Formats: sequence, structure tokens, C-alpha cells
Amino acid sequence: MKKLEIIIKPEKLEDLKEVLSTCEVSGLNIVNSMGYGNQKGVIKTYRGASYNVTLLPKIKVETVVTDSIAPGLIDKIVDEINTGNFGDGKIFVYDVEDAVRIRTGEHGEEAL
Ligand SMILES: Nc1ncnc2c1ncn2[C@@H]1O[C@H](COP(=O)(O)OP(=O)(O)OP(=O)(O)O)[C@@H](O)[C@H]1O
Ligand SMILES: [Mg+2]
Repeated sequence: MKKLEIIIKPEKLEDLKEVLSTCEVSGLNIVNSMGYGNQKGVIKTYRGASYNVTLLPKIKVETVVTDSIAPGLIDKIVDEINTGNFGDGKIFVYDVEDAVRIRTGEHGEEAL
């Protein structure tokens, strides 16, 4: 199993949910977060005064999926979310050792 941590701009959440719902994604968890990437935030100008914005609001969507669907799912997310602009976001991919459905005691992919 793989855990995907998908960090995107909040306005892209509906598009991402749509992609995930068309794939065999059995569950997801959404976290509001703040962050920056390579640009270390952006410099914005407001009424002539410039100030640093070092943290931008982001949404982190976490989902654990089978090894078999992970690569195709990642490709679909990139296709759907990519605008070509800085700050489109990132996907971090982790190996998941186990999952347990508490109601039944099932383990592994059965528990997804
Ligand atoms: N190395 C990292 N570790 C943890 N979180 C990160 C990392 N890089 C990016 N993030 C998170 O992902 C968000 C989006 O990053 P972003 O898309 O700006 O990455 P980037 O590497 O700067 O790519 P781009 O050049 O396309 O902007 C950041 O605001 C931050 O929340
Ligand atoms: Mg960036």
C-alpha cells in the first residue's frame, strides 16, 4: 500500500475530489495547512507597500491506496491539477506497512 500526501491550492480541492472519486480510492483525509515551496512564498504589494508572504494556505489530502493503483492515480492527479504555474503543489508518496479496520480487525488491503 502507498500513502499519497497531495498538497494543493485550496481552489483545486473540488477538482481533486472528482479525480479521486473516479478511481478506486476508498477513503481520504483532508487537512488545512500552510506552507511554502521553492519560491519561499511570494512578495505581494498592497497599496505600494511590499511585504513578505512566507506561508500560503494549502490543502493536504491524504489517501492510502493499493500499490497497483498508485502510479496511475498519481498521473491522473498531475494531469488534472497542473496549471503550469508555480505553487501547483506536490505529491509525497510513502510505503504503508499495514492498515487495520477497527470494526472488523481486517488488515492490509482488505482494510482500505
Ligand atoms: N520539500 C517540501 N517538504 C514539505 N512540504 C513541501 C515541500 N515542498 C513543497 N511543500 C508543500 O507543498 C506546497 C506547494 O509547493 P510548491 O508547489 O510551491 O512546490 P515547488 O517545489 O515550489 O514547485 P513550483 O516550483 O512548481 O512552485 C508548499 O506550500 C508546501 O506546503
Ligand atoms: Mg513553489
